[in-house]
Amino acid sequence: MAKSLEIQDLWVSHDGKMILKGVNLSLPLGEVHALMGPNGAGKSTLGKVIAGDQAYTVERGRVLLNGEDITGLEPDERARKGLFLAFQYPLEVPGVSIANFLRLALKERLGRDVPVTEFYARLQEGLKTLEWDEEVLGRYLNEGFSGGEKKRNEILQLLVLRPQVAILDETDSGLDIDALKVVARGVNSMRGPEFSALVITHYQRLLNYIVPDVVHVMMDGRVVKTGGPELALELEARGYDWLKEEVAHAGGS
Ligand SMILES: Nc1ncnc2c1ncn2[C@@H]1O[C@H](COP(=O)(O)OP(=O)(O)OP(=O)(O)O)[C@@H](O)[C@H]1O
Ligand SMILES: [Mg+2]
Repeated sequence: MAKSLEIQDLWVSHDGKMILKGVNLSLPLGEVHALMGPNGAGKSTLGKVIAGDQAYTVERGRVLLNGEDITGLEPDERARKGLFLAFQYPLEVPGVSIANFLRLALKERLGRDVPVTEFYARLQEGLKTLEWDEEVLGRYLNEGFSGGEKKRNEILQLLVLRPQVAILDETDSGLDIDALKVVARGVNSMRGPEFSALVITHYQRLLNYIVPDVVHVMMDGRVVKTGGPELALELEARGYDWLKEEVAHAGGS
């Protein structure tokens, strides 16, 4: 199957401290994968490095998108190639309305001017999927938004931009069940042969709504286990200690 996103032996440091220590992960087109793991394992760092965050130094390894090495590309170049990263802590941008922000982001993503009709068609469809009222479009980006509204807005971005690969870093905490369902509805509506997603999450609960094809577990900067949706259930039931032991017995490699 075509590999949409492929991470090969990725080592990444920040301020001289090694955070990612040889991550291998492949996400084929058409699949949705979950990325789990304890606090500090490196999940968000991996998401940010995939998106091109320059605060981190890639020491070794590669990130491939559709077989092309994108390790050295700027974030906006990656976005044009179809990569989307939803942030764990969304930015507030006072003075920029949601509609204007989305229009600019879509122009960036497609690398061309977008006719108003095309833009509104995407917007209307997105709002409908999220059951969100049009009046929100005039509001400033994330300013005074509740946690659930921020989340809706982030998923609206996903639905308007229609990326090929989406990385969603879900903090779960503070999100009520309706907000989780919004995330799920957005991701599920994108599912299809031309879309793939990596959903970073701690909780099995989200995965009841977005059923992943594959679950990866990260620990101490590496993917230590990959399995089916049942792996998330096992982690929910047993925690991470058994896996730590399993990794230690395997000689840490
Ligand atoms: N910008 C940074 N500056 C300093 N340390 C960082 C930075 N980014 C990541 N780290 C460190 O790298 C490690 C991995 O952090 P990361 O945020 O990737 O973990 P995570 O798996 O997303 O954790 P969580 O489940 O809590 O979200 C942590 O020890 C963190 O302190
Ligand atoms: Mg994180």
